[in-house]
Formats: sequence, structure tokens, C-alpha cells
Amino acid sequence: MKKNLYINTIGCQMNVYDSEQIANGLKSLQYKMTSSIEKADLIIVNTCAIREKAEQKVYSFLGRLAGLKRKKPALMIGVGGCVAQQEGSKILARVPHLDLVFGTNAIGRLPDIVKTVESKRCRVVDVEMSEKIEELDFVKQGHNRGKTTAFVTIMQGCDNYCTYCVVPYVRGRETSRDPEIIVQEIRCLVESGVREVTLLGQNVNSYGKKEGLCTFPELLRRVNDVDGLLRIRFTTSHPKDLSENLISTFKGLEKLCNHIHLPIQSGSNRVLKNMNRKYTRGIYIEKVDKLRHSCPEISITSDIIVGFPGETKTDFEETLDLIQTVEFDGLFAFKYSDRPNAAAARFLNKISEQEKKERLQQVLDLQDRYTTQKNKALEGSIQSILVEGVSRKQNRMDTPNRHPDVQWTGRTFTNKIVNFNRSNGDIAYNDIVPGQVVNVRILKAFSHSLWGEPVSAEPISFGLRGDESYVA
Ligand code: 5AD
Ligand code: SF4
Repeated sequence: MKKNLYINTIGCQMNVYDSEQIANGLKSLQYKMTSSIEKADLIIVNTCAIREKAEQKVYSFLGRLAGLKRKKPALMIGVGGCVAQQEGSKILARVPHLDLVFGTNAIGRLPDIVKTVESKRCRVVDVEMSEKIEELDFVKQGHNRGKTTAFVTIMQGCDNYCTYCVVPYVRGRETSRDPEIIVQEIRCLVESGVREVTLLGQNVNSYGKKEGLCTFPELLRRVNDVDGLLRIRFTTSHPKDLSENLISTFKGLEKLCNHIHLPIQSGSNRVLKNMNRKYTRGIYIEKVDKLRHSCPEISITSDIIVGFPGETKTDFEETLDLIQTVEFDGLFAFKYSDRPNAAAARFLNKISEQEKKERLQQVLDLQDRYTTQKNKALEGSIQSILVEGVSRKQNRMDTPNRHPDVQWTGRTFTNKIVNFNRSNGDIAYNDIVPGQVVNVRILKAFSHSLWGEPVSAEPISFGLRGDESYVA
């Protein structure tokens, strides 16, 4: 009998990848994904513990499920991911209608856990960690059908112990996957229609070092050789490990996109030291200069934490100054929050919520100027866009009136979102399909996206056709 599975993925791209593994694994128990929570026989929340806000989201979602469980007592509810790893059985005590808790290393065991809950109607907790990556058979089954882009985890865990960060405690030690298995998985994805992969790790620059596997640039070269794959992205890079070799790889590999996400976290050397980041602002700026020298078109994005314990006004001004010096293409900024086990939770001189809020706003306002300026500079240019699907906004029918006929969405080589019309009036591009590369003239820049019209489309040799879901 077919059963319905609903997964709520909270947090990072790694969780998106893990949720796909969860869905693939549960196919063996006849579970099929549903987008309707009311129809679900099993609801799984894949959680994130990186910031307090993400953790709060988990509990508020779980709270909302109590009514559903009362109406449908056979419904099973499970929690996986980082909060599950961190809290273990404490979540069962806090959420009475919860059936299972599984940690970040337990995805391979999930089908067995679910089978046990189904047959015995007992509550199960599995948060066992292991240093070895368990390769799951189902990754080879050409999952991800119907999508142009896919995430591929190349390494798990982290050994860096930045003082604000929970990752080493909930994702364990840094462990890299075998390059052969990664390449095999990408070949399967390409066979199922995927044209772009994003390689994921907490610190991809140290890929393979511990295990003596190949280097990250070498892995990129092997992935670049996969026939049918058009684009490669990766995230995240730790500035301390960004090598000359990787910097020069940007100009040498034709499929490697011109974008790097390089989290700086703070512009103050004093704060960087307290964060245990192991680089200075000077080293960071030097690496940015080298990247831009090697690949002038590269777009650089970053993460910033405001209000780290003890961050003075002068420290914060140095962060603002760094943003002005580097001129990032985009920035993710966060208010510092204490995380369980992370060293900074025990640091003195915590910054007030009001001060953090104000500093965050200043960072966002400043960055907005650069993002808009960089996007504006693209107006009139022709960009090569890998079509991912129908614009989400159009799908929700709430596209602002300014361009009501937006249809397709995709990204530039530099990772900027571009929405574009179905046709340009002269030539109809009704048969543009996801997976195709289309040259788009940029007509208008907004702060978080670009809008344009197609000028030519490269012939499609493979791709997704009518019966697939086109929603990116
Ligand atoms: N508080 C606020 N932001 C954090 N990040 C990680 N830990 C914390 C924390 N305790 C941010 C960092 C990291 C991004 C993924 O999340 O900027 O790069
Ligand atoms: Fe966390 Fe630092 Fe590891 Fe990134 S490098 S996951 S911020 S400990």
C-alpha cells in the first residue's frame, strides 16, 4: 500500500540534500512524497540548529502538528537533522505527539526506524554518531528526477570549532566522501536531467586532506569531466584554507561558475581572533584581490555575524569598513545567538538584542547599495542563463504589476537570479525548457534579482520535457 510522506526542510542546502536522501530511502517502504500535510502518513521535520531562530522554527512547526495528530492518530511524526542530534530524547519529552528522533548520521538507518515505529507503535531515538560516512545505496538510483539543479554533499562535519558555531557538535568530525562515489552520483544525476551541481561541505577547501583523498581542485576537475553536466558550483569555503590552486582553478575549468561564497564573519581582527577564525581582515582582502585578479568576473558573497560577544562600536565600524572595501555581490548577515556547547555561549559582554538589531540593519542597508549597484551594472548586458523553472512569484500569482508576464527563472554564471519573459516579441521561445541555456538581455535590475528577455537559446540536446515539474 502506498503511503504519503511530507518533509519540512528547515535550514541549509545540506539539509535539502539530506531530505532527498530521506525521501529516496523511504521509497523502499512505499512512501511517496506529498505536498499536502493533511494527506501525510509520515511527517518529517529536517532541522537546523545553526542559529536560535532556526531552532525556534522547529518547535513552532512541531507544536502546530498536535491538532493533526489528534484528528489522525495513525499519523507518525519524526524529527531529524541538527536539532535532533543536539537534543536527542529531550525532544520526545518536550513534544508528546512525536514518534521518532533521528540524528545527522542516522539517515541510512531511517527505513528500519520507521518500520519499527510502524509495527510496534513505539517511540524511537537514534542519535548515534560515526566518524565514517555511510554510503547509501539509494543515492545511485538517479534521484532528483525533474530538476535541473542538485546539491551533492562531498563532506560532512567540521573540525574548525569557530567559537560561535554548533556544527562540530551536531555534524561531528570532518569526513570527506570518496571522489569516485561523488562522481558516480553526479553521473546518475545528469542521467536524470540534472545540468548543474552544487558541491556541499562546511569547508570544501579542506576536502580530502584528512583522508589523503584527492584535493578539492582535483575533485572539481573530475566533476568537470562528467559529460552532459553544464555547471558546477560549491559552498562553503573557509578563507583560511582558500588555496592558490583553487583560486587559479576558476579560470581553468569551463564548467566552474564564477562565484565564491567566502564568509568573513567580521571585519575586526580582534573579533575574528575571538571567533577562532584563524585569518585576519588583511589576509581576507588579499585573497579577494587574488580571486579578482585571477578571474575578474567572479562574484563574491559572504556571511557576517553582528553583535558577537564583546563586539565594540569600533569593531562593528571595521565590519562596515570591510564591506565598503570589498564591495560584495551579496551578503547574508545574522545577529549573533548563543548555541549550546559553542564556546562563545560562555563569553562575557553579550550585546543587547536592540543593539544587534540596529547593527544588522546598518549592515543590510549598506550592502543593499552594493548589491543594487552591481546588479544595475548588468542592465543592457547579455547573460547566459541555465533555465531552472517557472518563476516562483509567477507561480504564486503575486508577481508585482511591473512585469506581469515573467515566466522562466534561472541564474547567471555568477549566481544572480534572472527572471525572463517567455518571448521577446520577435521570436517565440515557447519551447524553452528547464535545463536549457538561454541568452537573456538584462532589461532591469532589482535588489535581489534581474529581469530580461531571451535573445537566443542554445539548442537543447537533453533536458526535461512537458510532464515534469518546472517549479524551481
Ligand atoms: N549566531 C549567528 N550566526 C551564526 N552563524 C553560525 N553560527 C551562528 C551563531 N551562533 C552564521 C555564520 C555562518 C552562517 C551559516 O551562519 O555567519 O557562516
Ligand atoms: Fe561552523 Fe566554523 Fe565549521 Fe563553518 S568552519 S561549520 S562556522 S565551525
